[in-house]
Amino acid sequence: MTDTAPATLTLTRPDDWHLHVRDGAAMASVVPATAAQFARAIIMPNLRPPITTAEQAVAYRDRIRAAVPAGVAFEPLMVLYLTDNTPADEAARAKAMGAVAFKLYPAGATTNSDAGVTDLRKTYKVLEAMQREGLVLCVHGEVTDSEVDVFDRENAFIDDKLIPLRRDFPELKIVFEHITTKEAAQYVTEADRFVGATITPQHLLYNRNAIFMGGVRPHYYCLPILKREEHRLALVQAATSGSPKFFLGTDSAPHASHLKEHSSGCAGCYTAPCAIELYAEAFEAAGALDKLEGFASFFGPDYYGLPRNTDRITLAREDWVVPESLPFGEAVIRPLRGGETLRWRLR
Ligand code: NCD
Ligand code: ZN
Repeated sequence: MTDTAPATLTLTRPDDWHLHVRDGAAMASVVPATAAQFARAIIMPNLRPPITTAEQAVAYRDRIRAAVPAGVAFEPLMVLYLTDNTPADEAARAKAMGAVAFKLYPAGATTNSDAGVTDLRKTYKVLEAMQREGLVLCVHGEVTDSEVDVFDRENAFIDDKLIPLRRDFPELKIVFEHITTKEAAQYVTEADRFVGATITPQHLLYNRNAIFMGGVRPHYYCLPILKREEHRLALVQAATSGSPKFFLGTDSAPHASHLKEHSSGCAGCYTAPCAIELYAEAFEAAGALDKLEGFASFFGPDYYGLPRNTDRITLAREDWVVPESLPFGEAVIRPLRGGETLRWRLR
């Protein structure tokens, strides 16, 4: 493979369809990393307090734009946080301010999800309005029942929540975010055009052994958690299949390193500084570099009904070491693969 690998790889500029940038000084530390690679990114609304209204989304978008370095073109695409109490007419207000989606966090599923949905039926009025407006529902697809094994929560979500939801809203566009299992990949493959899925670089590159290599490795801990190798292989198959249902969403989820290296460490991998390089590594390992552009640059905008980007990026076959740590507001952050060598580098 190494002998036949191309020296450079040029792609239409990609977009990130699932990203966390936080707020304030932390946000200012991470937005430039994403803006250097991607033209647009879907910004997750799980701040404290969460971004639940169109008005808050407008203000948050302004703050993100202010964190983009001068001369760099980067467009944040806003998502509102769905709660039990989201009024139905918030959908029209969201659409009017340019938001592209609402995010469903089952209450308690992940970081800052305590304001999330406790019972999907409470959201049916707003889901109806979203379906009418053509807004996407981005779904954190895990059940939260503490009786359910943490490795089975995504699978249980398909049967318990997603299938009934799709029966009730057959024309609601749903993105099954950061899928991690062969069951999710299969469900999305077999679903109609209303359903898509994002896949993160860490779920393409690692299985759950990575969390326990010679000791607990908190920087490999994210939600949904890494799964067995058979699941990783199914995700690689889906991402490299050329199916337009699967597209790039890093789920880059920055947390200060002292909060990850902690007795109760936060979930989330920070991949923004080397995201497209990590995807290139995963696609190359699968012998499918020719499928990267569709996954990274075409299928996301096509699904969301947005124009594809027209400028290009080039990755070079060039070793570089990912910084071990980077500033993160007043703290520091450790990117995934920090201190390690990558073989693709964004020019
Ligand atoms: C995300 C975060 O930190 O905001 N963490 C993660 O592990 N992915 C939340 C999420 O997307 O689940
Ligand atoms: Zn996320």
